[in-house]
Amino acid sequence: MPATPSSPAYVFTHAKDAPLDPSPLHTHLRAEQPISRVSLHNGRLSPWLVTRWEDARMVLGSPAFSTDLTLPNAPAIREGQLRGPRGFFQGYDDPVHATMRRTLTREFMVKRINALRPAVAGLTDQLLTAMSKLSGPVDFVEHFSLPLPSLVICELLGVPYEDHAFFQEQSGIIVNVESAPEEAAGAIAGLGAYLLDLVRAKRATPGDDVLTRLAAQADEGIISDQDAADLGAFLLFAGHETTANMIALSTITLLQNPDQIPYLLGGPDQAAASVEELLRYLSVVHFGLRRTALEDVAVGDVTVRAGDGVIISLSVANRDPDVFTDPDDVDLARANARQHLAFGYGIHQCLGQPLARAELQIVLPELFRRLPELGIAVPPEEIAFKQETSVYGVRELPVTW
Ligand code: HEM
Repeated sequence: MPATPSSPAYVFTHAKDAPLDPSPLHTHLRAEQPISRVSLHNGRLSPWLVTRWEDARMVLGSPAFSTDLTLPNAPAIREGQLRGPRGFFQGYDDPVHATMRRTLTREFMVKRINALRPAVAGLTDQLLTAMSKLSGPVDFVEHFSLPLPSLVICELLGVPYEDHAFFQEQSGIIVNVESAPEEAAGAIAGLGAYLLDLVRAKRATPGDDVLTRLAAQADEGIISDQDAADLGAFLLFAGHETTANMIALSTITLLQNPDQIPYLLGGPDQAAASVEELLRYLSVVHFGLRRTALEDVAVGDVTVRAGDGVIISLSVANRDPDVFTDPDDVDLARANARQHLAFGYGIHQCLGQPLARAELQIVLPELFRRLPELGIAVPPEEIAFKQETSVYGVRELPVTW
């Protein structure tokens, strides 16, 4: 599909003076031309950018679109981007996707995740106690927002947290758009090899954890050992980058909107509602989701042709004024915040969302209850936002209390 001279380059970076708002290009296009061509890889690809909530939901819910990055014209953000192994099933259509996802659905059922809540509360307490013994300024990312989801996912999977430097580095390479394709593939393979050793070790020493149960499914012939390892690698990666960045960005948002904090602290229902609004407002998956049309489909007032690439901008769809009143305001009591698309929609909708919700619902109120004087130790313009990673966030966040 040739780029047209009028297609603007696909820019996902946030404005320096409004780092928590979506890319100004996406916001502009939603108002002017809600489905329009953008150009990628110096104009060699020209996918559609979908910016309205209704159209985003339609595309994500439609079986006429594939997530397979190996299709010609698939709108990979990184040139030469490879598809991961089957265990990284987000990049596969059914039936592979369904087979892989089914091996994990029981693990993420709300009831099972609710049973983890006391452990999440305990880890939150430990980290906050340790952090508050330090004298500030302290890096909130290093001491709290990154270790918390990392510890939780290790506990769930049965991965030793002592290895966190290794798997956090590999995850950082995978999410970084500036990583060379072979470097990203190497990080995926490295995580897969690390997890394969662990899956095999679980046979000798079983635990009450996801890796042990994946090893059992491999024994039954449902998946291979390598699938079990790659599924573990995918969860390890997906499970901490996203939630870690949500914790850090939510903290910044709340500190910038202190009038909202009493609502957050008003009990479990209010904490749950607050988390939905923060997910909507921040939409940390900020490059957009990528699909390729398998047949001709009408989206809004354009016909997307079979083979066309499509990028769905979640961050700007979640600020659509046709769905959310005053969408650029943070309103923790917003009645319809839960309609957000921050976890995607359709068959690929986030598998880990009950866990992400539980973590955020526990961590955020506890943080502000324990450290009511929490503040950012640098001027707003000095906060180091990560523009080049597929999950938006901050590199570090110096705080005091
Ligand atoms: C706030 C935190 C999170 C956000 C914003 C988030 C966002 C998303 C989004 C937007 C998708 C859809 C991708 C697509 O349609 O192409 C997705 C898929 C997925 N997420 Fe999450 N996620 C979060 C946390 C987690 C956690 C904690 C886990 C696991 C422990 C997880 C595991 C997954 C998996 C396995 C998929 C692939 C689902 C599929 O293709 O069927 N996520 N996530």
